[in-house]
Amino acid sequence: MAKVAVMGFGVVGSGVCEVLVNNQEHIAKKTGERLDLKYILDVRDLSDSPYADRVVHDFSIIENDPEVDIVVETIGGVQISKEFTQRALKAGKSVVTSNKALVAEHGFELLKVAEANGVSYLFEASVGGGVPILRPLHRCLAANEIQEIGGILNGTTNYILTRMIRGGLSFDEALKEAQGKGYAEADPSADVNGPDACRKLCILAAMAFGRRVMPEQVPTEGITGVTLADVAYAASCGKKVKFLGRAVRLPDDAVCAYVAPHLVDEENPLAVVEDVFNGITVKGDAVGDLMFYGHGAGRLATASAVVGDIIDVVKHRQRGERAAWSLGDDGDMVLRPDALESVWYVRLNAARPAVEQAFGDIQFLSRPDAPEGECAFLSGPMRRSGLEQKVKGLDVCSVFRVL
Ligand code: HSE
Repeated sequence: MAKVAVMGFGVVGSGVCEVLVNNQEHIAKKTGERLDLKYILDVRDLSDSPYADRVVHDFSIIENDPEVDIVVETIGGVQISKEFTQRALKAGKSVVTSNKALVAEHGFELLKVAEANGVSYLFEASVGGGVPILRPLHRCLAANEIQEIGGILNGTTNYILTRMIRGGLSFDEALKEAQGKGYAEADPSADVNGPDACRKLCILAAMAFGRRVMPEQVPTEGITGVTLADVAYAASCGKKVKFLGRAVRLPDDAVCAYVAPHLVDEENPLAVVEDVFNGITVKGDAVGDLMFYGHGAGRLATASAVVGDIIDVVKHRQRGERAAWSLGDDGDMVLRPDALESVWYVRLNAARPAVEQAFGDIQFLSRPDAPEGECAFLSGPMRRSGLEQKVKGLDVCSVFRVL
């Protein structure tokens, strides 16, 4: 019997406990071994929960218990979680996590610690919640050179944009609604300003391209600047505003990675990824285009991915192996944030002749009730630096890439 300890009984941790206990028979059939939830580490006593008898407050009880094989880290943050993960790995326990901040910032060194101690560090739930993406990337797509990876990586912002597009809500109204439904946190900045999507993109890019990509290297622009005017101009040319992370392989094997709102054609599969759903896209040189779609967050959806990793650890252990993932070679990926040419959507306060003088022959857009002096257009293909040169001195309101 494999003994499991769950650290942090929050949304995901409590979901993991529920799946482990409720699906015990089913899991035992899959693995040939029962999984026993031995400990829950939390600062609270959880006396109202059915697991109160398993609660401990001292990590060293888990660390020093030779019966514990697998530790689930759902504490969040990067300080305590990193310390406990390192100590658990050094104590010969495999660690499974949904903690994207920790994996994006310290995953590389934690994988090294796991390797040195002959155990596993798995984090399928850190990207796309319940959507399987890291294991397919690592296993099923291993034959491919990945050319591009990314997509809609944050459910809260996708919900907000969907409500702006479909319901005509302003950004503030849609955010309030998302908070009311429990999607957005009281402090929504990690979602709406982009760090959450950025961390997920870093994990995807490192796994796809084989070198470390750090969040601070990835230019990240959130959705707080998206207005109903932008939504209307996008609709006028058959497009939708979508919040995407993209990591694109360049001809010299460097990577252009960034997170930002985009205009996406209504025919593109990403355009129909709505509400809180995620749509993770991969382009491989052999397989072509793929999209992985599903619940990118939520208690049981995320627990599904965590428990899937636990089962993988158990199955590998039965074969006398480690379940080993890689975030790439030592050293950072060469990133060229401005290497990608795009058509750009620009909304500004300027007269058309001034815009034509700067951009030449372009496609102007229109929307009902546009205020006098407002102008929006799609540029020709160019790099961001080129665009910035051209709009210098103009009163620019919004600039988004067109996918
Ligand atoms: N807050 C995230 C989202 C889920 O809305 O997608 C956790 O990464």
